[in-house]
Amino acid sequence: MQIPVGIITVSDRATTGEYDDLGGPALKEAAQKYGWQVLSEAIVPDETARIQETIRAFSDQGCALILATGGTGVAVRDVTPEAIRAIMRVEIPGFGEAMRRESMKITPNAILSRSLGAIVERSLVIALPGKPSGAVECLSFVVGAIPHAVALAQRVPTSC
Ligand code: MTE
Repeated sequence: MQIPVGIITVSDRATTGEYDDLGGPALKEAAQKYGWQVLSEAIVPDETARIQETIRAFSDQGCALILATGGTGVAVRDVTPEAIRAIMRVEIPGFGEAMRRESMKITPNAILSRSLGAIVERSLVIALPGKPSGAVECLSFVVGAIPHAVALAQRVPTSC
């Protein structure tokens, strides 16, 4: 399934150039490997309004799947889950559960990520950890459910 994808790196330091953005390119490579089409990319600071407006803009541009990386932890500036929850129609708890369960087999610190999946407008939004390898790993743990979740988000008639 050729899924149109938007990728958002949420990071104060990548926004100012203090860090190179490695998470966005890592997710882009993974998305292309899955056969999806990356339509839109952005780097935004850890600010609720910027995260929300970027998700909405990407959804309006036709991104059926929006991958966000970063800001899922418990540092004071980490607001990605709250930003998504404030604009979502529904959360899909299984995404967060699967990502934490499988990641904890790799690192106990995975319990610190409040990663999640949700439907915003007609897009499936997945919030992934900020570490590039963690983001790609977490995506791999839920990739099997993505085509069906995207079809439901897009309201395409589909059978299970
Ligand atoms: N999940 C996987 N699979 N691999 C990782 O390296 N890092 C953890 C966690 N989840 C990690 C992971 C760490 S150290 C943190 S602090 C949280 O994700 C939150 O990261 P974030 O605030 O950058 O989103």
